Amino acid sequence: MAKQGLGWMEWLRGWFNLIYEMLFQRIMASHLQNPLPLPPLNDLTCIITGSTSGIGLEIARQLAESGAHVVMAVRKPKAANELVQKWQNEWSGRGLPLNIEVMEVDLLSLDSVVRFAEAWNARLGPLHVLINNAGIFSIGEPQKFSKDGYEEHMQVNHLAPALLSILLLPSLIRGSPSRIVNVNSIMHYVGFVDTEDMNVVSGKRKYTSLVGYSSSKLAQVMFSSILHKRLPAEAGVNIVCVSPGIVQTNVARDLPKIVQAAYHLIPYFIFSAQEGSRSALFAATDHQIPEYCELLKADEWPVCAFISQDCHPTNPSEEAHNTGTSQKVWEKTLAMIGLPSDAVERLIEGQEVKCRYGAHQG
Ligand SMILES: NC(=O)c1ccc[n+]([C@@H]2O[C@H](COP(=O)([O-])OP(=O)(O)OC[C@H]3O[C@@H](n4cnc5c(N)ncnc54)[C@H](OP(=O)(O)O)[C@@H]3O)[C@@H](O)[C@H]2O)c1
Repeated sequence: MAKQGLGWMEWLRGWFNLIYEMLFQRIMASHLQNPLPLPPLNDLTCIITGSTSGIGLEIARQLAESGAHVVMAVRKPKAANELVQKWQNEWSGRGLPLNIEVMEVDLLSLDSVVRFAEAWNARLGPLHVLINNAGIFSIGEPQKFSKDGYEEHMQVNHLAPALLSILLLPSLIRGSPSRIVNVNSIMHYVGFVDTEDMNVVSGKRKYTSLVGYSSSKLAQVMFSSILHKRLPAEAGVNIVCVSPGIVQTNVARDLPKIVQAAYHLIPYFIFSAQEGSRSALFAATDHQIPEYCELLKADEWPVCAFISQDCHPTNPSEEAHNTGTSQKVWEKTLAMIGLPSDAVERLIEGQEVKCRYGAHQG
């Protein structure tokens, strides 16, 4: 019989991990400098989704200040352009102007994701780092669906980044060695994916925002693990999931005001956005990452690389090791985002792939 949810021991261990991270993340990460020192990155082109606030904003600013060509992939271009202006003003006199541009993408629309990828791929230039950072956690809100018909956490946190990652493969291969960095969460430890009910509508599980969020983050780890296996070493594209820690950002905007106030009262435990950006920046730039990913591949390790908030390789949840479910998540995801089952192999061979949500990809 198919598994209906996490076993109670798995569930308890998941919550233990989460609470442990919340209480001790600062001690575990005490060896890290803040901001994380970065090498000169003048040869890198990086796309960062959701870079108008929180962790993504910090990632974009620090990569740009280290010399990278940064593309802010955002749903509010006006807000992003204002940030760029502010950063350029603060940076003036310290060297060449920052190399940042803004492009629009709304992850609640798979058409928008396809349009973004088409526009980027049409440049025929390299992409070295894609950081899938944008995410939502609509705490306490009723269940909502995108116009594509998918539960919003699943769409923004998993389906849209999965589509973006696959459609950008031609550019990532052109930029190889290159990386896809998924800003995931320790919350995937309490997640469970029912591949027959990705929208959590069947009534088998009661929907809460916690179920929506944690399932979407686990689905991302499982999908990434299969993508990691399917990408041959010669393609030179590696995939890493990271946990930023528990971070003070706008992600808590839907929390009751009293809980938000409590967040401010316990700054010792909660990371700043700059501290929360370190694991993603590490995964995007550290020279040992490709070797680590290849090692996992050679060992036929069942999960993709996962970097914890203290920039150490760590093991994703027990459920993430369920290879049967990961394969089903892979198949279901491709069907939901309108791609054929051999999309990755065809894109690697330079063939055209049609996506149900937009025009042709080549
Ligand atoms: N904060 C934490 O404690 C924590 C812990 C674990 C994991 N994370 C993960 O870290 C990532 C960044 O979150 P954050 O904490 O920095 O939160 P945040 O401050 O709320 O930033 C989220 C970003 O995602 C963007 N975004 C949301 N929906 C989008 C959509 N439909 N299309 C395009 N962009 C969209 C937001 O854009 P707008 O400004 O336009 O809304 C914003 O720029 C998320 O994936 C989150 O799950 C956070």
